[in-house]
Amino acid sequence: MTSRLIATSLTSTVTLNDGVIMPLFGLGVYQVDNNCPDVVAAAINQGYQLIDTAEFYANEDGVGNGIKQSGKKREDIFIVSKWWPSSEGEKGVIKTLDTCLQSLQSSYVDLYLLHAPQGRHCAEAYRALIEAKKQGKIRSLGVSNFGVVHLKALAKLGLDKPSVNQIELHPWQQKKDIVNYCREHNIVVMGYSPLAKGQKIQDKTIGGIANKLSKTPAQVLIRWSVQHGFITIPKTSQKSRLQSNADVFDWSIPDEDMKVLDALGNTPWSCTWDPTHNSLKEAGLE
Ligand SMILES: NC(=O)c1ccc[n+]([C@@H]2O[C@H](COP(=O)([O-])OP(=O)(O)OC[C@H]3O[C@@H](n4cnc5c(N)ncnc54)[C@H](OP(=O)(O)O)[C@@H]3O)[C@@H](O)[C@H]2O)c1
Repeated sequence: MTSRLIATSLTSTVTLNDGVIMPLFGLGVYQVDNNCPDVVAAAINQGYQLIDTAEFYANEDGVGNGIKQSGKKREDIFIVSKWWPSSEGEKGVIKTLDTCLQSLQSSYVDLYLLHAPQGRHCAEAYRALIEAKKQGKIRSLGVSNFGVVHLKALAKLGLDKPSVNQIELHPWQQKKDIVNYCREHNIVVMGYSPLAKGQKIQDKTIGGIANKLSKTPAQVLIRWSVQHGFITIPKTSQKSRLQSNADVFDWSIPDEDMKVLDALGNTPWSCTWDPTHNSLKEAGLE
């Protein structure tokens, strides 16, 4: 059972169920395109230790170049990447992983995720990734956008427990059933889109709390995730925002305001896709 792990600095970590140590805070790089190496290098030099990329983002090479540009040692950075589930299953996933490693200029990726329960070949791909982990190409294996039904299906198939489940999490998308299941089964919860893709920066409730605390709306949203004990990976393609987005550790949102933020979840709203309801057939987990 994992309890809430509240990050107290950019270097706070959690020990995953396979013993791998993972930072609790990082940079998401979806849609960080031409300036990806610069943004990644700047983030690392400001103390970010985790970078979240994916095959789908088409910037694994930008992340690799950014790490090189930062001058930091590869082993000091924790890279997360994801396989986009396809009909190629086992063959496809290994080919994609090898391309990922080449792009990252690394012999391993720290955490590799099945991007979503779709593509009809998740069990087959997951089995292949378990082998890749034994070969040292992956340090830790996890999933993303898995609902409780998909997590239970992995267990029923006798497959290794994922170390992490990455899901959409912000005040309007709290996915409590998945969070509770993960915590009961020692799977670490990693939230994505903590800023709701920037679409709630003007929200009056967020603005009111930000004013009261003398923080920005973005900081309030990111702090909400930190305070809930989620690993969080706010994205920015603007170097000037890296520092303020990470300035969320030496203050807290008072309980009464957390209650107000939590109540926003009573009217669920998503800023992106939601594959957590896909069928087991669609996932290939029957
Ligand atoms: N597993 C999945 O299916 C999945 C899905 C979505 C995302 N993710 C991961 O999660 C990461 C974060 O999620 P996300 O990219 O969807 O969205 P997000 O982090 O919630 O929001 C990013 C948006 O907020 C803006 N922003 C950043 N800092 C800001 C600030 N201080 N003030 C105002 N606006 C600000 C960004 O604009 P600028 O770039 O201009 O700063 C961008 O438009 C992704 O990059 C990706 O790594 C995973």
